[in-house]
Amino acid sequence: MLDKIKELIGEVAQFQSANLDEIESFRIKFLGKKGILNDLFAAFKNVPADERKEFGHYINTLKNAAQDKVTALKEAIENSKGFETKYGDLTRPAEPIELGNRHPISLVKNQIVDIFSRIGFTVSEGPEMEDDWHNFTGLNLPEYHPARDMQDTFFLQTNPDMLLRTHTSSVQMRYMESHQPPIRTVSPGRVFRNEDISARSHCIFHQVEGLYIDTNVSFADLKQTLLYFTKEMFGKSKIRLRPSYFPFTEPSAEVDIYWGLETEVDYKITKGTGWLEIMGCGMVDPNVLKNVNIDPTKYSGFAFGMGIERIAMLLYQIPDIRMFYENDVRFLEQFKSVR
Ligand code: DAH
Repeated sequence: MLDKIKELIGEVAQFQSANLDEIESFRIKFLGKKGILNDLFAAFKNVPADERKEFGHYINTLKNAAQDKVTALKEAIENSKGFETKYGDLTRPAEPIELGNRHPISLVKNQIVDIFSRIGFTVSEGPEMEDDWHNFTGLNLPEYHPARDMQDTFFLQTNPDMLLRTHTSSVQMRYMESHQPPIRTVSPGRVFRNEDISARSHCIFHQVEGLYIDTNVSFADLKQTLLYFTKEMFGKSKIRLRPSYFPFTEPSAEVDIYWGLETEVDYKITKGTGWLEIMGCGMVDPNVLKNVNIDPTKYSGFAFGMGIERIAMLLYQIPDIRMFYENDVRFLEQFKSVR
């Protein structure tokens, strides 16, 4: 019997395999419920007392050897798996990841900001929830001023002095409160007006405000700055300023660019005139400067404000303003190639 066990120990030591099925058969043969070791342990009961010690020793040796062998062979298989089998072919091309793209409003906003930053304008922002002073009163629009009707306002129910800003001109006020001239800043942001939603207008849209304050700033500086902008933005170098009215500027003007009448679309968007209105502007009213403690006898400046949606609609020939807010991927994907 002992010889048989020693022989089995030899067999275990000899056994080699890199095949999981074979290793499993080996395990079952030795260590399984009906395996050799169970038989040996059963036979152990009948072994005479004086042989038990030696017998037990060999059975245990056999059992440990079989167990170690199974573990070692399985480990060897696991370790022999290279990166290849563990992770697949590492040289295969990567899964194509769908890249997103910027929203057309962001694209146009960035372009506007870029153009002005090239001539020394900084970027500033203000809160969307604004108080009456920064949105209206400080900008020379006192409480009963009829010009307030130009902008239908959303007031906050919890505080009648607070509102959703109707224009980014409010940021002018805030910027001048915290900065001394010379000032050159553009303020992009979201604005809100209680207007019916249609193809041409929305109750939430975006503007960029511009402000330039220094000594000896003239209307000619304003015009030249706007000309630079329209050349950079639209590649158009003919503009005209039509007299207009804004309470925070004096004199005020609306800026038209000569778009041309080359295509049918040109006719349509310019209503047959070739001219397109793109923004409001003017020389900052001395009352506004006084309201922020800037001495209007020493300093002067200009301001302008434009709607981003309107410019994006012109540039990309988008027929309906609502398309900007629907987030239809088919629409948004069309701007993939735009920087
Ligand atoms: N805040 C005006 C608007 O929302 C736009 C504007 C006009 C801004 C003239 C200005 C300006 O700074 O000088 O319609």
